[in-house]
Amino acid sequence: MPTLGFLKKKRTKDSSGSRDLDSPTSPIRDTTSPITPAVSKTTSASFTQQSKASTAHEASAASQSTQASTAPSKAADSMNPTAYPQQAYATPQASPEPYQQSSHNVPSIQNLIHPSNSNQSYQNQQRPAQQPAANGGLVAQAQPAQPQARVTKGKYTLTDFAIQRTLGTGSFGRVHLVQSKHNQRFYAVKVLKKAQVVKMKQVEHTNDERRMLQQVKHPFLITLWGTFQDSKNLYMVMDFVEGGELFSLLRKSQRFPNPVAKFYAAEVTLALDYLHQQNIIYRDLKPENLLLDRHGHLKITDFGFAKEVPDITWTLCGTPDYLAPEVVASKGYNKSVDWWSLGILIFEMLCGFTPFWDGGSPMKIYENILKGRVKYPPYIHPDAQDLLQKLITPDLTKRLGNLHAGSKDVMNHPWFAEVTWERLQKKDIDAPYVPPVRAGVGDASQFDKYPEETEAYGQTGEDPHGHLFPDF
Ligand SMILES: Nc1ncnc2c1ncn2[C@@H]1O[C@H](COP(=O)(O)OP(=O)(O)OP(=O)(O)O)[C@@H](O)[C@H]1O
Ligand SMILES: [Mg+2]
Repeated sequence: MPTLGFLKKKRTKDSSGSRDLDSPTSPIRDTTSPITPAVSKTTSASFTQQSKASTAHEASAASQSTQASTAPSKAADSMNPTAYPQQAYATPQASPEPYQQSSHNVPSIQNLIHPSNSNQSYQNQQRPAQQPAANGGLVAQAQPAQPQARVTKGKYTLTDFAIQRTLGTGSFGRVHLVQSKHNQRFYAVKVLKKAQVVKMKQVEHTNDERRMLQQVKHPFLITLWGTFQDSKNLYMVMDFVEGGELFSLLRKSQRFPNPVAKFYAAEVTLALDYLHQQNIIYRDLKPENLLLDRHGHLKITDFGFAKEVPDITWTLCGTPDYLAPEVVASKGYNKSVDWWSLGILIFEMLCGFTPFWDGGSPMKIYENILKGRVKYPPYIHPDAQDLLQKLITPDLTKRLGNLHAGSKDVMNHPWFAEVTWERLQKKDIDAPYVPPVRAGVGDASQFDKYPEETEAYGQTGEDPHGHLFPDF
């Protein structure tokens, strides 16, 4: 039986600090790109479906490419060396920030082919993960080479943390940067109002979010250290991922070059593979939920719709642009909805807009999803297009990820041919862009600013909802 769930709205604006919840995804113009978009020799002239904004975007990308083409050679797409001007994406944009001169900021397919094995590699830079000690001490854990079960010590309370600015807000939650009073380290705490969770019928999803997050341990998934509650709110203590949302980087870049999109897509693929092996469907893939760590690797956050589903489920939930047709049609669905969403994500990274976006109304988006017609801009690499056609297909007997070999079919697709999966899993491949953050000092400069919460946290007193969240 279909269950009435909750649909989120996709964010549209990049830096206003407020979310435009009424508009669909749309291309943004007038930005300074930290990653220079690749520009195909065939330009937007033949892509007639683009909006005015994306035409402006093409013009801007083309001028960026001209500008970049004078820079020294750093990278080329080995799959199709003639597809892009040689330097179209190899040079970071001129920027007032000195950090952008770092070679780590250079998106490069070479990173995928020739992973770093120097002492610059992630593992050698990695410091021990540190857990916010509930009992006053500093709890250091050696970073395991392979995922191990996480041990959380003690029970946290609000008094363990100094709450700082808001990092993000969503449909249900507000996420704060906090500093542990015990070890002085910075964490992110997601705060959910119990009354709101109950009103929006999200009690089960919220309990699932906590349970799923506690269960998972993977290099590309957020770490949850503990949870607690007071009479009004639920709190989830996570690692603070300093580099900001992939959403912000994408909007600033307008669209990603083929190898850059491939890098992020490959990390997401590994995370989905891991989740699906545990029978967990994620159900909310989108750039807003993908964070960049200080080295530029992805961390998937927001397990608000993640659920253990061994076979089939019916709940209508997700974000309109990313919904698979079987979800829109209120049919039973399985893990393969995440592979559809991966297709939408890759499309959005390569194009700067989602394939079924249409003028603003979710209903139009749903109609388009059910019609299933996707216009592929000519600058999309043929291998990428082939993969997208095999992910964004309503036919479940053909959708990659849902076939006999499961996620291996996705990983073995020609678009991912140069990805060395084992090294990627170990973060032994340099990311195409390293966020300009000063690690360990609570540098939240990569996050948009939001109006702060006015209601005080930590209230005691009557709590009509506490029993609904027994594990927090
Ligand atoms: N661990 C973290 N470190 C840094 N920022 C975070 C972290 N977790 C979440 N955020 C920020 O907070 C935002 C909102 O968090 P989250 O997505 O979990 O809430 P939500 O209410 O489910 O959101 P939405 O309705 O947009 O899906 C994220 O988009 C991200 O910008
Ligand atoms: Mg979210």
